[in-house]
Amino acid sequence: MPVEVAAHAGFCMGVSRAVEKAEAMAKDGIPSCTLGELIHNPQVIRDLAERGLEPIREPEEAGSRRVLIRSHGVSPQVLEKLREAGNEILDLTCPFVDKLHRIVEEGSRDGTPVILVGERDHPEVRGTAGWAHGEVMFVAGPGEAERLPEIEKAVVVCQTTFPHSRWEAILEVLQRKIRQPDCRCTICNATEIRQKEARELAARADAMIVVGGRNSANTQKLYAICKNVCPRTILVESAAEIPPAFANKDSEMIGITAGASTPTDSLKEVVTRMSELENKDLNPTAEVDTNND
Ligand code: F3S
Repeated sequence: MPVEVAAHAGFCMGVSRAVEKAEAMAKDGIPSCTLGELIHNPQVIRDLAERGLEPIREPEEAGSRRVLIRSHGVSPQVLEKLREAGNEILDLTCPFVDKLHRIVEEGSRDGTPVILVGERDHPEVRGTAGWAHGEVMFVAGPGEAERLPEIEKAVVVCQTTFPHSRWEAILEVLQRKIRQPDCRCTICNATEIRQKEARELAARADAMIVVGGRNSANTQKLYAICKNVCPRTILVESAAEIPPAFANKDSEMIGITAGASTPTDSLKEVVTRMSELENKDLNPTAEVDTNND
């Protein structure tokens, strides 16, 4: 049973940086917390909480603790609230999200409305909306874009983890609706590469395993992409969730990928588990790569 792991799977640059810093913070003895769960992975969150780095939901819950801002970023209003309360801030907003904030802030300075393509309840989208000076409209699909009125001028940006094909479908509609559109594709490299590789791997595979937190938007998107081309796709948070009968034929090729917030160890455990199920060597070319290039 050959197993192939996507070349880019698991932690992306933004998440890897945030987790490294958080682990260092958990060791230095200064009372600290993270504003929101650091990443969408229950195991990592549990582990950090056991070491004193608890997630809080609102800035007011920080008390006098140092506050870590996760890679999703926050609005300037939230940063201001923390500064006013005297909290030390360690801002680990991912550089890709930071770039999105800058585009929104600068593009809307003259009052130009912003169309934010993404899921309006996602923390990155909520935080980004706060950087706009004027009106913000949220669009998650081509149907919603169709329902917008005719607009004279707008800056159009996108959640960094949004599926590329959906962004393009929405853009097609928006370009008809907006007389002077300023469209910027702000989907990050890591997302694009992972989604493209996942689609290609799923097309070759007999079955696919997507590893990651069920509350992780980018993991769910990888799952949807894979399921679309390979109906025998499962999403697991850990190796223990793989049904023993999943690998049922020697000749089948199993593809494995992982969301950007999935620790390398979880991915390796799944690869090992598949090996145990078949008790055969894995594809020697399959490697776990956490780079974001
Ligand atoms: Fe940043 Fe993209 Fe990861 S926005 S946090 S590198 S998925």
